[in-house]
Amino acid sequence: MDFPYGKFMLQTIDRCAAPLAQACSSTPSSDRNTMSVNDLLQRNREWAEAQLKVDPEYFSRHVEGQKPRLLWIGCSDSRVAAEQLLNCGPGEVFIHRNVANVVAYNDINIAAVIQYAVEVLKVPDIVICGHYECGGVKAACAKEVTTGYIGDWLMITGWAKRWVDDRLGWRKDRMPKDEYYRHVVEENVLLQVKHLSHLSMIREAWKRDPSSPRLHGWVYDISTGLIKVVMDGMEFENEVKEEESKH
Ligand code: CO
Repeated sequence: MDFPYGKFMLQTIDRCAAPLAQACSSTPSSDRNTMSVNDLLQRNREWAEAQLKVDPEYFSRHVEGQKPRLLWIGCSDSRVAAEQLLNCGPGEVFIHRNVANVVAYNDINIAAVIQYAVEVLKVPDIVICGHYECGGVKAACAKEVTTGYIGDWLMITGWAKRWVDDRLGWRKDRMPKDEYYRHVVEENVLLQVKHLSHLSMIREAWKRDPSSPRLHGWVYDISTGLIKVVMDGMEFENEVKEEESKH
């Protein structure tokens, strides 16, 4: 199967790099103590103006509709800005974000997003993207269980921690904490891809067309800006076929 990241990224950069680069280079680092909401609105006006200078049709094109290249399910963390790190612009990425990029079976919010992406927008790829230094994953690994809604939510990510603990065994205690968290971040992505594959919407879609949507697991490294692929669509399809052949 053709694995299309290279082609996709090149096309995307061609179309979007200039306006994004211009907008970002004029943007000072944000500081919520000195930056008011009015400052943000001013930034919006400057951004819109900058886009129009580079491409007068930039906004009018979007009125006709959207045809995003993929569905991104990522963490709410403010440092993991999906479109920006893919160098994409409006219309290119359909996005859902929550704490620790979790796919929960009983979450009608994410279910509605996935249904719209798959059945209406017909996105060919769905990416679960976690990130290193994820506060949600760290909280899920903490000895003391986080209380409230966050604690309840992170119970799901807790399963990733258990798988990692089982796999590492005694090695866990000799491992630097950061490295351990990286293992759990990656495992959490794999776990959520698995959850995604169990949803009826995805299974129904595969009945119609076994090659779409392709599911992918990525981890974004906030210290380098680079994405690590921990599971690509092809690997996953093979795994599903193996599982099916056992039954
Ligand atoms: Co996070």
